[in-house]
Amino acid sequence: MITRETIDEVKNRVDIVDVIGDFVSLKRSGQNYKALSPFTNEKTPSFYVVPAKGIFKDFSSGKGGDGITFVMEHEGMSYLEAIRYLAKKYGVEIKEEEGRSEQEKASQSERDSLYILMNFAKDHYRELLTKSEEGRSIGLSYFRERGFNDRTIDKFELGYSLNEWDNLTRTATGKGYSEDMLEKAGLLIRKDEGKKYDRFRGRVIFPVHNLSGKVIAFGARILTKEKDQPKYINSPETEIYHKSNVLYGLYQAKNEIRKHEFCYLVEGYTDVISMHQADVENVVASSGTALTEEQIKLMRRFTENVTVLYDGDAAGIKAALRGIDLVLKGGLNVRIVLLPDGEDPDSYARKHGSTEFRKFLSEHTQDFISFKISLYSKEASNDPIKKAEAIREIVTTIGVIPDPIKRSVYIQETSRLLNIQESVLLSELNKGLITERDKKIQEKTKQAPKETLDPLVAAPQLAKTDVASMVQLQERETIRLLLNYAESQYEEQRLMDFMMTELEDVEFTNPVFKEIYAMFREAAEKHEVIDTLYFMEHGSPAVKNTVADLTTNRYEISKYWAPKYHIYISSEKEKIQDVAFTNILRLKFRLIQRLIEDNLAEMKQALSQSEEEKHLTIHEQLKGGEKEIASLLGIVIPK
Ligand code: UTP
Ligand code: MN
Repeated sequence: MITRETIDEVKNRVDIVDVIGDFVSLKRSGQNYKALSPFTNEKTPSFYVVPAKGIFKDFSSGKGGDGITFVMEHEGMSYLEAIRYLAKKYGVEIKEEEGRSEQEKASQSERDSLYILMNFAKDHYRELLTKSEEGRSIGLSYFRERGFNDRTIDKFELGYSLNEWDNLTRTATGKGYSEDMLEKAGLLIRKDEGKKYDRFRGRVIFPVHNLSGKVIAFGARILTKEKDQPKYINSPETEIYHKSNVLYGLYQAKNEIRKHEFCYLVEGYTDVISMHQADVENVVASSGTALTEEQIKLMRRFTENVTVLYDGDAAGIKAALRGIDLVLKGGLNVRIVLLPDGEDPDSYARKHGSTEFRKFLSEHTQDFISFKISLYSKEASNDPIKKAEAIREIVTTIGVIPDPIKRSVYIQETSRLLNIQESVLLSELNKGLITERDKKIQEKTKQAPKETLDPLVAAPQLAKTDVASMVQLQERETIRLLLNYAESQYEEQRLMDFMMTELEDVEFTNPVFKEIYAMFREAAEKHEVIDTLYFMEHGSPAVKNTVADLTTNRYEISKYWAPKYHIYISSEKEKIQDVAFTNILRLKFRLIQRLIEDNLAEMKQALSQSEEEKHLTIHEQLKGGEKEIASLLGIVIPK
């Protein structure tokens, strides 16, 4: 048993932000931190860390507690395992009252035994790589040929399995591991007729690590040119290894991913390693499988920005197109680098050296719109039908993005690049969205209604027209500014006071925004501090969800993106007065347009001449107002 003293010592040392930060990409939000729930597949963050109290709270799964609880929940550890893990992290010496009993050892969970066995196997393969004659002359020289240095070999814990039937099994059983465990770990293959042999033989070994650095699987590459042998043999699914939940290289990459705020996605083990060799360390691989939803979710814990690296041949482009939609659907921002025809990251980096390679990456990274435009522009430039097709292609891809604000940013970008009116693109987008939604409703009618709402899509009065959806978009922006900058200064007053005065005569059309705004007013009148947690505690599920969504800064696409793509400005805070002023104007502008629409519709129904004239007068007045605001906004409105 670990002593009480040790446990207390660990508790004293634990810094909850630091502990959780090893697993989750936390973003500061006032005094607290927030992130996407690591326990569910949510699209908007509702996972909070409150350092002042040393606790976390996950509104999405309901889990909560201190740093120890977090490690237990997240890593599936027992209480004492979590203490051991944290003791190691903080360099606390573990004092034990007495050695662990035989019984304790026996009752260790199977998962633990598998981790231990996999670690043993990994150490064994590593040792063979450098200590055995065969390992050195075949395995190590192969890695050298590929340009992997000692540091890289150590970092990835690369190894070698001897070309013998049972080298691993013999060694492991000699150390007291059972054949049953070896089989469960996927290291030993046993056939019905009593034949048994090691799974990995005469191959170089690539261990696959989980997020805390434990080995959970191996990939093993053949070095000879045998015809009917697969190039790679991989561990099968086991208690501790679920292929679709794992990204190769994530353990080695996670800190760099946080630092650079994006992650490269490549295809294979060697691509990941070669990129490290070239000093590009924010890279992971899906390793042979098509990218899965779980893998995207895993990536989202560390960054929202993915750059996919593909071969520039036809197959690579096809894979890139498929990858883009999948990644966008998962709520991530995506960029693309196409390598020259026939090259993968590994071959390119080796041929041209690491400086050249990094230069290539930075010069050839495209956002997906430019990528798609350049793909279609060759044929589309003087063929209107082709051009229409290209536009539809791009808009369809934009349509898979779950976040309406991002969608509108990309629509603006497309409009700029293709020189096509935003409204044309929007109506194309809306058509697609409505079809999608109808499909979803049809699929879901049998299931219970979801409690989370995307206000722009799921609102009862679903945006029927461009104008109605533009109104809601501006409403959303208004609420977002209020939530994020309430206490900022607007001339002599608080931004919140300025906005609330301006919004006096405005009624929100979207029910969720209306609810949030009402809560805001109420709290302001009572002089309560209105921060995110206030809404998390008092709001309805839809409110919580929307507030969580609107208070992350993920709309402010990272500083690495902004200058290159003019997509969004991250210094919103600095120009908040302008931003707020323009937002109010835009909201009013859209509201007036909506009134004009409604008025015209009523005019069509008019029963008498005088009624029609009344509507006409209203129309003139509204048009006047629209023009006035438009000129303030610098917009030219069509007649
Ligand atoms: P590649 O064939 O591109 O391999 O497959 P690679 O990693 O670039 O290896 P080198 O450069 O030829 O040595 C990409 C990935 O697909 C999986 C592996 O994860 C590999 O890294 N794969 C490939 C398999 O699982 N089995 C195979 O037989 C082949
Ligand atoms: Mn390769």
